[in-house]
Amino acid sequence: MAAEVGRRRTFAIISHPDAGKTTLTEKLLLYGGAIREAGAVKARRAARHATSDWMELEKQRGISVTSSVMQFTYDDCAVNILDTPGHQDFSEDTYRTLSAADCAVMLIDAAKGVEPQTEKLFRVCQLRKIPVFTFVNKMDRVGRDPLDLMDEIESHLGMRATPMAWPLFEGATFRGVYDRTDKSVHLFQAEKHGTTAIQASGGRYDDQVVQGLLSDGARERFEEELELIEVAGDPYDQQRVLSGDLSPMFFGSALTNFGVELFLKRFLKLAPLPGDYQTVAGDPQPAGSDIFSGFVFKIQANMDRAHRDRIAFLRICSGRFSKGMEVWHPRNTKKIRLANPSSFMARERSVIDEAFAGDIIGLYDSGLFRIGDTISTQKGLAYAGIPHFSPESFRRIRVGEPLKRKQLAKGLQQLAEEGAIQLFSDHFTGVEDIVGAVGTLQFDVLLHRLEGEYNVKALTSPEPYSVCRWVVGKPGSPAFDHKTFKRGQGSLMARDRDGHPVVLFSNEWSARWAENNNEGYELRPVSPVVAHAGDL
Ligand code: G4P
Repeated sequence: MAAEVGRRRTFAIISHPDAGKTTLTEKLLLYGGAIREAGAVKARRAARHATSDWMELEKQRGISVTSSVMQFTYDDCAVNILDTPGHQDFSEDTYRTLSAADCAVMLIDAAKGVEPQTEKLFRVCQLRKIPVFTFVNKMDRVGRDPLDLMDEIESHLGMRATPMAWPLFEGATFRGVYDRTDKSVHLFQAEKHGTTAIQASGGRYDDQVVQGLLSDGARERFEEELELIEVAGDPYDQQRVLSGDLSPMFFGSALTNFGVELFLKRFLKLAPLPGDYQTVAGDPQPAGSDIFSGFVFKIQANMDRAHRDRIAFLRICSGRFSKGMEVWHPRNTKKIRLANPSSFMARERSVIDEAFAGDIIGLYDSGLFRIGDTISTQKGLAYAGIPHFSPESFRRIRVGEPLKRKQLAKGLQQLAEEGAIQLFSDHFTGVEDIVGAVGTLQFDVLLHRLEGEYNVKALTSPEPYSVCRWVVGKPGSPAFDHKTFKRGQGSLMARDRDGHPVVLFSNEWSARWAENNNEGYELRPVSPVVAHAGDL
């Protein structure tokens, strides 16, 4: 058990659209032997549009509405990459996916630095205190000064970076990277890289041949910079990396395969093993224990239109899973049998027989699971659940035909449980008709699914809010009272589905104003966690 769990590395790549996440993922799969020629993931995406009708919306828009999990083996590590969707399909799902990862790889474009979506995702990693590794991509093109990028990581994100490699330049031209671990140089030869895996060329930095390839000026600049990061930079410190305080930094070019394998090798050595998740009872559950447990972090409906199925994605937190095993489910005092578990490779599923802590498995779901549910072989074991994150768009929703009101309520309730949208009730009317989403595409998906699955044509109208804050009383403060709470003009008092008071604001400034003017309360951008321990 310990050996199997110790082999697992489960991570997500976080980035802003166009930084190269698809390309890097594909190259990691290439070096991991999961695909033979790069282009497969993109090609599969294209083929999917031609052959699959699993979600018409996806076809119409030509984008991916779901995130997936990819698995491969490298250097004896069983690697799980959790895909976090970007672009228009950025949603709360993206945040929740991070709850199933043990660490994150932050991909940044060398020319653009830290961009907004990267920062949002980074903040979620920070909440969870998981290690964040940095990969600076697109080094083959003219980009920003690497010292400048290090500075930006610190000033924007408040995290220090420790370069594990350092780039070499001849004037403005990128010549390769120096691996600080074994003092070797990996030379960049653009024309030799591409769709197939190749061996990096180079040698030790002090080697005559390598020295001869660089001009005096290039060596001088490199040696000066290296000295600077060695003297003034933060040394690698495993404890600081594990607590998310220090980010090991790498440089490369995913498109030309450069630096990808070096990154993969070093990263797998430094990345954490599956962590111990906190239980409701307060103790962490050791990943290597004999007790099987896991939690649902994502529910995907209609992955395959032909089967009209729902898949619950389960992160295994401890123990060993085997096909057909019986587990306790929180809202079901009976045991349930996990009959047809699947593992994932891009969007293709295959049935698996066993899996270990750190792995992600897919469970067929007939509506039994909710986001945050724990299942375990031990009765009563429950994990703390996944919080909700502040939506950025809000709409009021109503039915087109009055007779369909009940169907709408049912559809909204089920889709909120699945985590497709967040649902709020107006504090004063008590009507649950405010829907919130992180990306506006979620609203289109919602309307589409209400019509397709619940036979309700719904109408929405925009609301002028973009920030949600959960109001939590500080210790010793009186209970929340909307009459004394100062929230300024243009805001709305509401409640989430668990009954927590929330305030919707039109901008960050108004939210900060309320925060500064209500002494007894904390205004949080994430919800208090509600553990679905159910009847146990
Ligand atoms: P994303 O998933 O993060 O959105 O990014 P994606 O991999 O789709 O890459 C975005 C664009 O950046 C693509 O170009 C891709 O080829 C390019 N790219 C990725 N890595 C590198 C790199 O290391 N160097 C350079 N120069 N470019 C890189 P595109 O023109 O939008 O698409 P395509 O025609 O190449 O497929």
